[in-house]
Amino acid sequence: MYVMGVESSCDETSVSIVQDGKTVLANIVLSQIDIHKEYGGVVPEIASREHVKGITLVFDQAIKKAGIRYEDIDLIAVTEGPGLIGSLLIGVAAAKVVAMNYDIPIIGIHHIAGHIYANNIEHDLEFPCLALVVSGGHTQLIVMKAHYQFNVIGETQDDAVGEAYDKVARVLGLPYPGGVKVDKMAAIGKDIYHFPRPMLDSKDYQFSFSGLKSYVINMHHNMEQRHEPYEVADICASFQEAVTDVLVKKTKAAAEEYGVKQVIVAGGVAANRGLRAKIAREITSVPVCFPSMAYCTDNAAMIGVAGYFKFQRTQKADDYTINGNSRLELNGSFDKIEL
Ligand code: KG4
Ligand code: ZN
Repeated sequence: MYVMGVESSCDETSVSIVQDGKTVLANIVLSQIDIHKEYGGVVPEIASREHVKGITLVFDQAIKKAGIRYEDIDLIAVTEGPGLIGSLLIGVAAAKVVAMNYDIPIIGIHHIAGHIYANNIEHDLEFPCLALVVSGGHTQLIVMKAHYQFNVIGETQDDAVGEAYDKVARVLGLPYPGGVKVDKMAAIGKDIYHFPRPMLDSKDYQFSFSGLKSYVINMHHNMEQRHEPYEVADICASFQEAVTDVLVKKTKAAAEEYGVKQVIVAGGVAANRGLRAKIAREITSVPVCFPSMAYCTDNAAMIGVAGYFKFQRTQKADDYTINGNSRLELNGSFDKIEL
């Protein structure tokens, strides 16, 4: 089964061709990073315009790279939300045009389901499994008992991890996208500040990163005002240690409580080397999987994989009323399971 994946929820225009929910025949990603860098973050209106400019080319390149014809596609899977509404609408509209033109069924995918299914490309999901979702917009722990069944057992009460990384990076003068720069600096710094670990000892799976973010920003501000010397690398290392301590401790506790067979890490922050090392070191009772770096951040291969499994489970496509939904809920799009 050939699934065409389409992703445009933020600042990457991406189209993929995935065979049988596993083999990536093409995954074209047109990144807008260099354009948004100038502004220190994604500018929604510019993102929409860039999607419009690039999307037709990305569709054609994916088809060419995969060596198939549009007529060969069995299903189109498109990110319907959450994300920037203008960006989403362009991917959804373009996907609908192709679907109508070639009479291909179309299915809407939740962006986070896509991030989770990025793990099925190089591994096989094994149930029950626990997904730690860490992206620019989400921080969640999700238990899955079967394909395409998601149960959110905890999530951030304020900022997402990626968002906190990006804001700390900005204050430290590191260029957008900040997360990856903080990660690089952390590798050469030391945890000399021992920042607070928010909600580390709460007996639930909720998170909070806004207080930690403000703590780091305020400390930096005060040091600047007093002309105190400091190393950016040490601030990065201290921040990263605090964040990863909380993420890993809660993930480990949830894996034990729910007796999962596998832990998977999903979303842009899954690319974080500090997190990858700590979680692999701390969780040894079950296998821990990460997508390879190219599938951690936004891409359409993950949407194609998720589309295959959603279709297997529901056995039905959407109709042409499918639309972008910037606030789509993960549990709202399909069945919730009793744990
Ligand atoms: O999943 P993603 O590509 O987009 C969303 O769905 O939000 O995640 C982007 C986020 C950004 O906040 C970015 O700074 C962060 O992932 N990120 C990282 C790393 N690489 C990307 N954060 C920490 N360490 C990294 N290596
Ligand atoms: Zn994402």
